[in-house]
Amino acid sequence: MADWDRKIEKKTLKVGVLGLGYVGLPLVREFTSAGLRVVGFDIDPKKVAVLNSGRSIIKHIPHSQVKKMTASGLFKATTNMSLIKTVDAVVVCVPTPLTANREPDMQFIVKSSETIAKYLCKGQLITFESTTYPGTTRELVAVILEKSGLKAGRDFHLAYSPEREDPGNKNFTTKTIPKVVGGLTKKCLDMACKLYNAAIDTIVPVSSLEAAEAAKIVENVYRCINIAMVNELKVVFDRMGIDVWEVINAAKTKPFGFSAFYPGPGLGGHCIPIDPFYLTWKARQYGMPTRFIELAGEINTNMPHYVVQKTMDALNERKKSLKGSKLLILGLAYKKDIDDVRESPSIELIELLVKKGAKVDYSDPYIPRTHRQRQHDLKMTSKKLSAKMLGGYDVVLISTDHSCYDYNWIVKNAKLVVDTRNATSAVKSGRSKIVKA
Ligand SMILES: NC(=O)c1ccc[n+]([C@@H]2O[C@H](COP(=O)([O-])OP(=O)(O)OC[C@H]3O[C@@H](n4cnc5c(N)ncnc54)[C@H](O)[C@@H]3O)[C@@H](O)[C@H]2O)c1
Repeated sequence: MADWDRKIEKKTLKVGVLGLGYVGLPLVREFTSAGLRVVGFDIDPKKVAVLNSGRSIIKHIPHSQVKKMTASGLFKATTNMSLIKTVDAVVVCVPTPLTANREPDMQFIVKSSETIAKYLCKGQLITFESTTYPGTTRELVAVILEKSGLKAGRDFHLAYSPEREDPGNKNFTTKTIPKVVGGLTKKCLDMACKLYNAAIDTIVPVSSLEAAEAAKIVENVYRCINIAMVNELKVVFDRMGIDVWEVINAAKTKPFGFSAFYPGPGLGGHCIPIDPFYLTWKARQYGMPTRFIELAGEINTNMPHYVVQKTMDALNERKKSLKGSKLLILGLAYKKDIDDVRESPSIELIELLVKKGAKVDYSDPYIPRTHRQRQHDLKMTSKKLSAKMLGGYDVVLISTDHSCYDYNWIVKNAKLVVDTRNATSAVKSGRSKIVKA
C-alpha cells in the first residue's frame, strides 16, 4: 500500500483505461490532467488512430482537450492489449446494452475481462465502471479474472465504481461528480479510492461491490420512473386541456420535497431506457418482480406512439392525412446539445411515421448522417435548415430541443410545429401553428 501511495504522490502510477467512449475519454482527460500517465485501450483501431492524432471522437469533448492530453506525452491510445501488463490499474468502461430480448448483454464485460485475465499481473488494481446489475463484479468478472491463476483480493485487487457522466452537462464534469466506490476487500477499496482521488474531487466509499453497483442502478431507476410519471401526466393533462410543462414549472417552485422531471417523446440514451432492466433481470433470479420499472418502461415506450397520434390529429384538423405528408424531425440525438443517437426516440418516431406512409427527413447539426446501429439502419443524412425548406414540410416535429435552434424563426417559417419538448414556450407569434405532444 505504501508503494501505491508513493506512486500516486510522485505521479508515477500508470493507468489503463479500457474502452475509450463517452465514459472512458473524459476519464482519460481527468487522469492526465492530474498528471498521471494513461494508456487508453480500445478494440476500434479507427478510434485509436484519431485520438493519437490529437483529435476528438465526441462532439462535446473538443479537439483541443484531446490535443492537450496527447501533447502532454501522458496519453497514448492503443489496440495492443498486451500493454495491460505495463499498467498499475485498469479502469474498464465498456458498453452494457440489452439483447434483442431486453436482457443484459454481457458480451463486452465478458470479453474485456477475458482480455485482462490474459495479461493480469500481481498487484494490479482492476476497476469496472460499466453500469450493470448488482453481483456482476463478484460473480462474473472476478471468476473470469481468476482464470489467470491469480486470486482476487490477494494477488490482484478488484473494485467497482459506477460512471455517472452526464454528457453535455456544463455544470458537472467527471471531475466534479462524486465517485461512488466499492471494493472486494478493504485493501481493494482503499487502493481504488486513492486512485480516483488523484483525479476526482469527491470519493464516496461504500461497503461492498454490490452496494456500488446497486447505487448506479437506483439513480437510473429513479429517473426512469419519474420521467414515466410526467409522461403519463402529460397525456392525462392534455385531455383536460392543461399544459403539463406549466404545471411542472409551477410545482417546482416548492423549495423542498419536489424534483422536476420533464416529459418528452420517449426515453433515450445508453442509460435510462436500459439499466433498470438489468435489475429486473437480476431480481427475477430472486423470484422478485420489479413492477415500478416494468410499468415505467411500458409508459415510456408508448410515448413515440402518442406523439404520432397527436401528429395525425393535428394533420387531420387541417384536413390532411399522415400518409403522404412530408415531415421534418428536428433533432436526432437522444437529448439536447450532444451527438449521441443511442436509443433515441427520434429514431423510433421516424420508423413509426414512415410505416404509416409519411415522407420523413431529419435535421440535426450534431448528426450529419445516420450510422448503422444494433437495431436500426436509417441511411439518412441531415437536411440543412432554411426558411424555404421549413415551409416545404407539412409538419416540423421537434424531437430534440438543441439550444442552437432559433425557435421563433422555425415557427415563423413552418406550416405546423409539433413540439414534444416545450421548446417553443417562449415563442410569441404563430402559436396557433404549435401543437404540444
Ligand atoms: N454514455 C453515458 O452517458 C454513460 C453515463 C454513465 C454510465 N455509462 C455506462 O458506461 C459504460 C460505457 O458507456 P459508453 O457510453 O462510454 O460506451 P461507448 O460505446 O461510447 O464506449 C465503449 C468503448 O468500449 C470499446 N470496447 C468495447 N469492447 C471492448 C473491449 N473488449 N476492449 C476494449 N475496448 C472495448 C468500444 O470500442 C468503445 O469505444 C456503459 O456501461 C454505460 O452504461 C454511460
